[in-house]
Amino acid sequence: MTNKISAAITAIGAYVPEYRLTNAELETMVDTSDEWIKTRTGVEERRILKGENRGVSEMGAPAILELCKKRGIDPEEIDCIICCTVTPDMTFPATANIISRKIGAVNAFGFDLSAACSGFLYGVTTGSALIESGRYKKVVVVGTDKMSGIVDYSDRTTCVLFGDAAGAILLEPNEEGYGIQESILKSDGEGAEYLKMVAGGSAKPASIETVLAKEHYIYQEGPTVFKFAVKRMADVAFELLERNQLTGDDIAWLVPHQANKRIIDATANRMGLSTDKVMINIQRYGNTTSATIPLCLWEWEKKLKKGDLIVLAAFGGGFTWGATLVKWAYDSI
Ligand code: UT7
Repeated sequence: MTNKISAAITAIGAYVPEYRLTNAELETMVDTSDEWIKTRTGVEERRILKGENRGVSEMGAPAILELCKKRGIDPEEIDCIICCTVTPDMTFPATANIISRKIGAVNAFGFDLSAACSGFLYGVTTGSALIESGRYKKVVVVGTDKMSGIVDYSDRTTCVLFGDAAGAILLEPNEEGYGIQESILKSDGEGAEYLKMVAGGSAKPASIETVLAKEHYIYQEGPTVFKFAVKRMADVAFELLERNQLTGDDIAWLVPHQANKRIIDATANRMGLSTDKVMINIQRYGNTTSATIPLCLWEWEKKLKKGDLIVLAAFGGGFTWGATLVKWAYDSI
């Protein structure tokens, strides 16, 4: 009898643009202060992909190439690329296809997945199912977002929050029980009115009017989203622990979506975790939407040990939210 196949994360890559947009620079652009941004959100700087005609594929492609190099594989070996993004290069074709071409993943099929800040968790869960089916051996999940392309830099309530980045993982079959153990994913379309980009889709195609009305930018009712995020991200992470008969003591790391330091702290508290077990890099990158979780894993990779139990948790536009339990599959060299 063959063992059950699980999907293990076997390599991580990431890409962060060079340009650092600091709180000090934002103070020159809108009526804000370093003090307000730091205490209300935790962000100190974020990276921005500068230059004309540069889309998220430019960040996603190097992130995947890095993981291929680390794992010692050729992009031609990749079976599937799931590209999680709300800021695709174009509405179509899918950015996954553009990335495949850029990196030479000629044998991969691919598609984009839109679940806002929970995109990466939705992608990991989908990718895991492909691996568990036994049909696919190498599935890449890349979260890549260029939030600077849809942020209104005259709106102080949103422009201080977001940044640009990409993070990618490779999923491969594991028969020893390592890898993705379980995900709880949720969504609630009621949330659509609080966090959205109104125009540019089929309901309201781009027009001169939509541009003048600034409807191609992020619209967010911050305090309402905050209220839902704080409760739902913490609840779902706790539910994941309960379902697996775990407590905070069993967990090596919490990898939370980086939207607001206060939301992260609330989730850690609810799980009974001390801050030294929580990956936090919001101060350096802000909210990079689909990229926050893989970016944390990338930065913390060397500290992760084979067998570590890790909880990934996210909340975002949709609303979408969820939590994933991972049994880490390798010791970093
Ligand atoms: O990742 C996707 C999901 N998104 C989230 O999880 C974001 C959730 N929301 C949040 O993180 C918070 O709601 C924000 C960080 C967006 C805002 O923080 P807040 O503590 O909820 O502030 P607020 O919107 O209630 O605003 C408080 C005050 C207001 O002024 P008044 O009306 O009290 O005079 C705002 O106008 O702070 C003002 N304010 C600012 N002041 C300086 C809002 N933004 C700024 C700013 N600088 N950048």
